[in-house]
Amino acid sequence: MAIILYGTDTGTPVFLLNTKNTSYAFCINKSGIAEHLYYGKLINSPADFETEGRGEGMAYHSGYDITPEEISSFGCQRYKETSMKLTFGDGVRDLRLAYCGCRTEDDTLYVDLKDMHYSLTVTLVYKVYEEYDIIGRSRIVRNGDDLPVTVESLYSSEFALRGTGYRYINSNGTWAGEFRMYENRLNGGKAIIESTRNAAAHVSTPAFAVYQNATETAGDVWYGVIEYAGSFKICLEQTPYGWMNILAGMSDTDFEWKLGKGEQLVSPTVYTGYSDNGFDAMSNVLARFSRGVIMPEPYRKKPLDVLYNSWEATAFDVSCEEQMKLAEIAADIGVELFVMDDGWFGRRNNDHAGLGDWYVSREKFPDGLTPLIEKVNSLGMRFGLWFEPEMVNPDSDLYRAHPDWTYHYRNRPLLLGRNQAVLDLTRADVREYIVEAVSEILSENNISYIKWDMNYPFSECASELVPPEEFKSLHFRHAEGFTAIAEELKRRFPQVEFEACASGGGRIDYRTMGIFDEFWTSDNTNGYDRLSIQEGYSLFYPIKYMRAWATDSGHFPEEFNFHAAMCGSLGIGVNLNRCDEERLARMRSHIQHYKDIRTLVQFGTLHRLASLKTDGYQAVQYENGEESAAFVFGGVRERGFGMLPVRVKMRGLDPDAEYAVLRIGSWQDVFDRETEHIDRETVISKGVRKSGAYLMNYGTEVRFHYDMYSCIIRAVKI
Ligand code: DGJ
Repeated sequence: MAIILYGTDTGTPVFLLNTKNTSYAFCINKSGIAEHLYYGKLINSPADFETEGRGEGMAYHSGYDITPEEISSFGCQRYKETSMKLTFGDGVRDLRLAYCGCRTEDDTLYVDLKDMHYSLTVTLVYKVYEEYDIIGRSRIVRNGDDLPVTVESLYSSEFALRGTGYRYINSNGTWAGEFRMYENRLNGGKAIIESTRNAAAHVSTPAFAVYQNATETAGDVWYGVIEYAGSFKICLEQTPYGWMNILAGMSDTDFEWKLGKGEQLVSPTVYTGYSDNGFDAMSNVLARFSRGVIMPEPYRKKPLDVLYNSWEATAFDVSCEEQMKLAEIAADIGVELFVMDDGWFGRRNNDHAGLGDWYVSREKFPDGLTPLIEKVNSLGMRFGLWFEPEMVNPDSDLYRAHPDWTYHYRNRPLLLGRNQAVLDLTRADVREYIVEAVSEILSENNISYIKWDMNYPFSECASELVPPEEFKSLHFRHAEGFTAIAEELKRRFPQVEFEACASGGGRIDYRTMGIFDEFWTSDNTNGYDRLSIQEGYSLFYPIKYMRAWATDSGHFPEEFNFHAAMCGSLGIGVNLNRCDEERLARMRSHIQHYKDIRTLVQFGTLHRLASLKTDGYQAVQYENGEESAAFVFGGVRERGFGMLPVRVKMRGLDPDAEYAVLRIGSWQDVFDRETEHIDRETVISKGVRKSGAYLMNYGTEVRFHYDMYSCIIRAVKI
């Protein structure tokens, strides 16, 4: 049973939330405090948990501060980071919550708490995803009084880990440098991981993983992801009382939300999990959960098509003729979805003009998009188009008609990033304009994919229609506005595939995942840099959503760039008009090989076998029990004398089974194919025989023959 309630008639109830392999427990302790008890391996006996609590504490160390709480509130002798902070209408800022009941509905537990004086209630909501080993949690704050309440901070989740010396990982990213993971150890004080850029943003990841000694395959890891497409915050606090507090939810750096009588504020959901098998298990639980619960239909179960995107080839210089030429070659090498990026609309010849004017440029497309789309379709490909719906260039018809439609302060010059401003998504007229403008293009043309870009996070938190005293609600309202527009467009066009992009990977989060069908991971398409970006991405996000293009970036062997891109959902960004037949043939063969293994890559279990950071080379494996593909990347940059061989040890195979093993790449000791299809049968007929135990324990030898060498090791169970 997923939710076990114990002692609900005693005043000190215990709430035990069990998944297949984990237990999460909290109680109302003897002092009336909602105390967090436990998160870890399965325990089925709620009666074993003690509810005595830690007593009253003493002057400098209050009972609240010394207790690991399930929900803490500002004031009331608390000096630590708290789950929520608010001001009552009469100026009182201390919230004293007492338990007043609980109920369950299917897999969801609701625990109600109420202030001792005011009609202010807080409901803790826990949805147990038993099969997935995940718990989703959120909070609902309701005001029942006549006087308004101002909520100043509201985390979605709080729990504590007994012990000290915990480590945590997150990323310190930039544009074109997403998911550069770091690890810190917190021996005291607080660590804040935050985005104030109205999106998950490149700078940090809306997720946490906390551990003491975990590795890829062993050790305890507690983790969580925030389902919110806006500014977020995670606070880790090592208390002096022998435990670490973990809080996650919306950012409160610039936040206030007024609650009138009868109104409520619902926090975003945070999904948490616990792994006793290290990071590999964490990533695969999250990927399975994403595929089973978060991703929208109909693409959730379909392998994504191989796409071609024209951005790196043509930038803003798009024309019907040039795009048609690219499309012909793309179709010829096996591309299934042809995407025209920026530059097709308004007076968009560079990044100074045009955003907001969502009509086809007649200079570039005299007969509209139809001739190009028909051509693309006749070549057997679907057609996709780029948009940046939330933005406006001051040099646009839209801005000239509606200068009041951006976030701005009346007495300051408008701030721009990449020459553009952010449309005020708190306004219904702006939301309607965007939905209608994009809908018109989508309904008039046979478009089956959109790349939704976003290249500037605003910092001017002011709107013409929101009263000044509510400007601090803009981050939250903007996130709501964005998701409302995207959801409405998805509702109108359910068959259109949506890619979320924000200057590369600036909008990668679980809320966006719930509406969109994939992420653009990074504008950095250099195969070598991609290896670290993709490794960091893969910790918390599913591979299927990781769009990766092979391009000319980096001047590495083409095979290396292709192999790096084949580790995700493959795209091509090379300027095909400049490729000779020989090169096109090589690309054709990579694409064909990708199609042979894409279901394995996009839906398989992922194992990070070796990392550039720690091993000097990278190896990632995808397996589904029957088949396995491991991508191995090395280069003298990491290994000094690059000829030293390594042994790549796979995971997840059947130790007693026999496998056919084939190494594929362009060196004499591996299978160097031209345009052959490398299906199961090819691997079986050409591969050497090895046992699963051999492949996992002794491994396959790989020599790095030259700088930036890569190969793929396929294994098929006989
Ligand atoms: C930023 C994106 O990340 C790129 O892929 C490309 O779409 C450009 N914007 C277009 O302006």
